[in-house]
Amino acid sequence: MNEIKKQLNFTLNDLKIEKNIGEHYKGKVRDNFHMNDKILMVTSDRVSAFDHVLGTIPFKGQILTEIANFWFDKTKDIVPNHIISSPDPQVLIAKKAKTLPVEIIIRQYITGSLWREYSDGINGQYGFDIEDGLKQNQKFDQCIITPSTKAEYGQHDEPISREKIISELVPEDIYSKAEDYALKLFKAGQEWADKMGLILVDTKYEFGMYNGELIVIDEIHTPDSSRYWIKESYDENFKKGLPQNMLDKENIRQWLIEQGFKGEGTPPKLSDDIRILLSEKYMELYKKITGNDFEPFSGDVKKRIINNLEKASIL
Ligand SMILES: Nc1ncnc2c1ncn2[C@@H]1O[C@H](COP(=O)(O)OP(=O)(O)OP(=O)(O)O)[C@@H](O)[C@H]1O
Ligand SMILES: [Mg+2]
Repeated sequence: MNEIKKQLNFTLNDLKIEKNIGEHYKGKVRDNFHMNDKILMVTSDRVSAFDHVLGTIPFKGQILTEIANFWFDKTKDIVPNHIISSPDPQVLIAKKAKTLPVEIIIRQYITGSLWREYSDGINGQYGFDIEDGLKQNQKFDQCIITPSTKAEYGQHDEPISREKIISELVPEDIYSKAEDYALKLFKAGQEWADKMGLILVDTKYEFGMYNGELIVIDEIHTPDSSRYWIKESYDENFKKGLPQNMLDKENIRQWLIEQGFKGEGTPPKLSDDIRILLSEKYMELYKKITGNDFEPFSGDVKKRIINNLEKASIL
C-alpha cells in the first residue's frame, strides 16, 4: 500500500526514446516501435476505459506484462503466440503480425457492456439472439463469442456478426481458426483460474498473420483484456443480486459510472484513491493467478527501461 502510494509520481505515462529504433505507434496503453519484422512493445502505466485514456496506475505496466507472459508461456503449446523475448519487466519483443481487423471476445457470463445493452433491450447485434430472462452476471450454459471491429484511435469498437466478418473482413478459414484458437485459450484460462480460486468471466483476443501462420498477439488474460471474479463469493452475490468481487478494469469503469461518466464527453480526473485501488486489485490478481507475490520494481520506470534496452543492445 505504502509502496503503491510512493509510486504514484513515478508511473510511466510516455516513453520517449531519443534514438530512432523504428516507427512509433502510440496505442492507448502500449507504445509500439516497429523494427522490420519485430515490434518493441512497451506497456506503459496508462489506463484506458470506454476508449479514453484516463491517467496512470502504479505498477500497471509491469503487472500486465508479467501476467500476459505467464499466460503466453502456459498456452504456447496450444496456440502459437507473438512473444520473442522480454528485455524489461514491461517491455516485449514480439513478432510483427498483420492484424486481423476484429477482436474476438468470449464470454461465459452476461455482464459489463453486454449486460448494459441487453438490459436496455438491445439484442441480436452479434448475429444471434441471447435468450430472454437472464439476470445480471448470470452464467451462460455455453460461452458465446461477441466479436467487435477494431476501431481507430478515439473511436469506439463496434459489435459485428460472424457472417459480416467472413463476408467482408476475414477469409472464413482464417476466422474459423481464430475462433478455434480463442475457444482453446479461453478453456485453458478458465480451468487454471478455477484452480486458483478465480473465475475467468470473459476476455478479448487479437490475432494476426506472421509468415503465413495465424498467431495470437497483443495480450492475453490480463485484467485489462479480461474480467476476473473471486470464485468463492460468486454464488452468494449472484443470488442476492450483489456486485461480484472483481479484480479487473471493471473497477475503474464502475468508478467512472459513479462519477456520472458513461463514455461520452470528457472523463473525470482519476483520484489517488482509485489509482491505488486499481493497483491493489491488479496485484491481488497477479498473486492469485501465478501463486506468487507480485514484486514491484519501484522508482523511475523510464530510467530502468532505457537501461535494460541498452543492456540488451537495442539502444
Ligand atoms: N504482434 C503484434 N503485431 C502487430 N500489432 C500488434 C501486435 N501485438 C499487439 N499489436 C497491436 O498493438 C496495439 C497495442 O496497443 P494498445 O493496446 O495500447 O492499443 P489499443 O488501445 O488496444 O488500440 P489502439 O492502438 O487502436 O489505440 C494494438 O493496436 C494491437 O493490435
Ligand atoms: Mg489494447
